[in-house]
Amino acid sequence: IYHTPELTPSDTTPDCAIAVDVLRATSTIATVLASGGEAVQAFSDLDQLIAVSEKWPPEKRLRAGERGGAKVAGFELGNSPLDCTREVVQGRRLFISTTNGTRALQKIQHSPSVITAALINRGAVVRYLLDKQPETVWIVGSGWEGSFSLEDTVCAGAIAHSLVENCPISPVELAGNDEVIGAIALYSQWQNDLLGLFHQASHGQRLLRLKSQEDLKYCAQVDILDVLPIQQEPGVLKSQ
Ligand code: MLT
Repeated sequence: IYHTPELTPSDTTPDCAIAVDVLRATSTIATVLASGGEAVQAFSDLDQLIAVSEKWPPEKRLRAGERGGAKVAGFELGNSPLDCTREVVQGRRLFISTTNGTRALQKIQHSPSVITAALINRGAVVRYLLDKQPETVWIVGSGWEGSFSLEDTVCAGAIAHSLVENCPISPVELAGNDEVIGAIALYSQWQNDLLGLFHQASHGQRLLRLKSQEDLKYCAQVDILDVLPIQQEPGVLKSQ
């Protein structure tokens, strides 16, 4: 587990890399693909997003932009998963740029296998790992501008906890670094009150100030979507 893109090594890649941004980019990505979106294409740079999406037919695209938790002016969507209903996203490609989540994805995009995880699709991610058994797996939390985040760490812990429960491996054997043990401990303590944890998290509090409490409730649910966003080409995710 790496807590932020900045802490993630640049000189090597794992067999499988997992980007996590529970509040809210990877929850939004899972929701778009579960609601029939054609794909999600992620950008760290807004100008690049605009340039690429302009080549796409307008009726087949949606632009989602978030900075500092708020929607980017001129885009159809911000980063609320609750806006990504079937009526809105079906058959369309979502071009998205967010403060931290899309940067985490960009950091790992050259790994042979790249997926995104949130609590809402944790089970699909665990099933993929148990099925493929990649030797090295990185879980990269997006954090917030270089800092640790509780919500991404608890999601990494939820994935690791489920792996330990479903295969004959101890947390110590599973751990490539101390962060795995810490993340499992965080999940074990908060698994029955993930929303309570989000209310304490700094980005959770930022979203509450922006009146996004319904997003927190939605993103705190576990295993509600059976969808696995998997990278097809750098930055483009489709459902497996
Ligand atoms: C991010 O990328 O930092 C987040 O997804 C921010 C948000 O809550 O929209």
